[in-house]
Amino acid sequence: MIWRKDVIYSKAQSSTNLRLQEVAPADSSFRMVHAKSWTLKKHFVGYPTNSDFELKTVELPPLKDGEVLLEALYFTVDPYMRIMAKSLKEGDMMMGEQVARVVESKNAAFPPGTIVVAPSGWTTHSISNGEKLEKVLAEWPDTLPLSLALGTVGMPGLTAYFGLFDICGVKGGETVLVSAAAGAVGSVVGQIAKLKGCKVVGTAGSDEKVAWLKKHGFDVAFNYKTVKSLEEALKVAAPEGYDCYFDNVGGEFSNAVITQMKKFGRIAICGAISVYNRTGPLPPGPSPEIIIFKELHLQGFVVYRWQGEVRQKALRDLLKWVSEGKIQYHEHITEGFENMPAAFMGLLKGENLGKAIVKA
Ligand SMILES: NC(=O)c1ccc[n+]([C@@H]2O[C@H](COP(=O)([O-])OP(=O)(O)OC[C@H]3O[C@@H](n4cnc5c(N)ncnc54)[C@H](OP(=O)(O)O)[C@@H]3O)[C@@H](O)[C@H]2O)c1
Repeated sequence: MIWRKDVIYSKAQSSTNLRLQEVAPADSSFRMVHAKSWTLKKHFVGYPTNSDFELKTVELPPLKDGEVLLEALYFTVDPYMRIMAKSLKEGDMMMGEQVARVVESKNAAFPPGTIVVAPSGWTTHSISNGEKLEKVLAEWPDTLPLSLALGTVGMPGLTAYFGLFDICGVKGGETVLVSAAAGAVGSVVGQIAKLKGCKVVGTAGSDEKVAWLKKHGFDVAFNYKTVKSLEEALKVAAPEGYDCYFDNVGGEFSNAVITQMKKFGRIAICGAISVYNRTGPLPPGPSPEIIIFKELHLQGFVVYRWQGEVRQKALRDLLKWVSEGKIQYHEHITEGFENMPAAFMGLLKGENLGKAIVKA
């Protein structure tokens, strides 16, 4: 048996295959593992606050045949958690992926030491039957941090990849606009578009973020919070208009973009973070007249549509581009599991440059 440092809880969560229950095993030879977990104490109203979260501790049961015990190394906080938390019951554990190490195993496919991406939620330790675990790519180089499996070489990178190629259908020579451009998804969108020979315009909410974008190849970048007129700034950035808009923010921002699209322009509706925390009525949608007369194509998508070999190929492409220095990454790392709520709240306030990660 392996002795783990102070752990904490977990709770039955139907959306995962993880066996997480409040159990006190009777076997005296078993050394207790205590899992710490962040739970949703109260449903969010507007921006989440500290009092909406509660830290709990539970003992995990002994492993059954086929199961593994995971210890988290890195956690991700993502905007979708603000939306998905609506489907939780108060008291449930917050959902999410983590990079974890197998520390004990009764499953031959995942021997101790295996590094996986696991949908375990906001918990330091968890038990899995292996079904939803994904090993990091075998060719992962020692020089790259494993946390990238939650960012540029993980879900956000895949979102950029499929949104740009499959939804926007981007082609070399086109003009691409991406909002929240210095974030986990946006920073990859812009850099892939540059690799494919596009002109890329990015918008971000601080001068530091804008400087990062310019340093990493964006043709034009501006701070949407400080420009006098968003319409004017968009027009100056690309007087020719936009072929593709990778929309991460929605709301009034995206309504302004629509007017600057070229005829037959394509819009990948990836996210709408500008409205996730709104308590009042939602802003009106984009003008139907403009969509009709410009003959625009708007399409929403969810990254989990692409599975199997296409997903693996995309991960390998992303890893290769990062390893070769063709795609640069930045991580906004918060130290300590106890700071998960703070990291999540900071993400929703725009504090992160690049991927928001919590180191266990
Ligand atoms: N469809 C999918 O499958 C899928 C998958 C992953 C992510 N997404 C979506 O993609 C978007 C970006 O996600 P991410 O993980 O890359 O997050 P992120 O960009 O790393 O972080 C969120 C960023 O959003 C910006 N933001 C926050 N509040 C805003 C507001 N009111 N108006 C405009 N911008 C605001 C902030 O940047 P600034 O400082 O620049 O404002 C913040 O840093 C989100 O909408 C997310 O829901 C969708």
